[in-house]
Amino acid sequence: MASDTLTIIDNRTGRKYEVPVHGGAIYAVDLRQIRVSEEDGGLVSFDPGYMNTAPCQSKITFIDGDLGILRYRGYPIEQLAEKASYLETAYLILRGELPTKTQLADWSHHITHHSILHENVKKFIDGFHHDAHPMGMLVSTVGALSTFYTEAKSIFDAESRDKQTYRLVAKMPTIAAFAYRHSIGMPYAYPDNDLSYTGNFLNMLFKMTELKYRPHPVLEKALDVLFILHADHEQNISTSVMRGVGSAHSDPYCSVAAAAAALYGPLHGGANEQVLRMLNEIGSKDKVPAFIEKVKTGEGRLMGFGHRVYKNYDPRAKIIKKVAYDVFDLKGRNPLLDIALELERIALEDDYFIKRKLYPNVDFYSGLIYQSMGLPIDMFSVLFAIARTIGWIAHWEEMLLDPEQKMKIARPRQIYKGAEKRDYVPIEARK
Ligand code: CMC
Repeated sequence: MASDTLTIIDNRTGRKYEVPVHGGAIYAVDLRQIRVSEEDGGLVSFDPGYMNTAPCQSKITFIDGDLGILRYRGYPIEQLAEKASYLETAYLILRGELPTKTQLADWSHHITHHSILHENVKKFIDGFHHDAHPMGMLVSTVGALSTFYTEAKSIFDAESRDKQTYRLVAKMPTIAAFAYRHSIGMPYAYPDNDLSYTGNFLNMLFKMTELKYRPHPVLEKALDVLFILHADHEQNISTSVMRGVGSAHSDPYCSVAAAAAALYGPLHGGANEQVLRMLNEIGSKDKVPAFIEKVKTGEGRLMGFGHRVYKNYDPRAKIIKKVAYDVFDLKGRNPLLDIALELERIALEDDYFIKRKLYPNVDFYSGLIYQSMGLPIDMFSVLFAIARTIGWIAHWEEMLLDPEQKMKIARPRQIYKGAEKRDYVPIEARK
């Protein structure tokens, strides 16, 4: 008997099946042959929350959650955060290799020269209420770009895909910054092509009346590192949404809008916003033990803690903690830091968190940094979305080019538990 197979005995029928094992997985469709009768549709795997389902093969990001390892295209996140720039990392994630000098210059040129928004796009942003959440503005505006670049529908045309990629990576910061300026009633600041990706983003956020905005190198670097850390994270929910919507062959703007909508949720990218709200609610270090007790009795969660994949310290959280101190040295210590440190100290010693392997995740400290940089809480998930755009695009393209996936729409099965067939009851006869 071949060793790379799985033997299944169906005790309902006594039948025996042998299904191939490919690289640690069985094909779920191989279960379909297991049936009790001709009418039976065959066995399916039931997996709410996709706890143990791999919908694709991917070469982009590797995570070992038990060991706390994260690599993009094989390169450890620690090395990229220390040595690479965000745009260099974005190129790596998309193309699979680190760029040469010429490739990086070309890539940066394309991104830089697509950062301006069509003037009509500004009108959408103008139309939002002054207190609209910037993530809502981002989601709708990036979706609206689909109406400006109709050739984006040609998803199997490599040249068109490249063009939409440049536009998306370039315009996300512009939309985000315009949404921020709109919410504070400031005129929009246009992109400055002389600046780096993150330097320009700071320019669009914070430029006042000066002729030339000069980003502080510490803040520019801190934001660059944060963007690198958020650039991809394999099959998280927003990336799965990108792949799911993309599998219907929707254009990339609509797919990115859907992915960003998933990121908005407080259990995903919205968690950094919730961390800040939680720290504000706790208010002082001495109230931390009581808050932890509340969490342990099931009253809320410790936001910024726990992860579906990491059952160890999130490697991104370790790097972020270092960046936080660089920013605090410049901007002054964020008063909420002491509450965060105390939460972390107590939680890491507490049985409840130890048993469940709950450690700080990427969002635990990122919000403190963003706040110290002068960004309002509402903007935190928007920053995450800018950085993650390249990850979404890389997965979308990988899916489209994968012969196994490109013509397969994502279509999960269900276990139907509803009513049996019954006849329509006229409204007069209903109780
Ligand atoms: N605080 C308190 N208890 C928790 C937490 C938390 N943050 N996270 C999980 N638990 C408990 C949960 O109550 C459950 O306990 P029990 O076994 O007694 O029912 C156990 O740990 C397992 O939780 P789970 O919900 O089954 O775990 P999951 O893998 O489905 O959830 C998570 C992962 C990230 C949604 C969850 O840990 C959470 O809600 N964390 C807070 C939100 C957060 O920080 N999200 C950002 C994630 S990192 C950024 C990103 O990649 O999106």
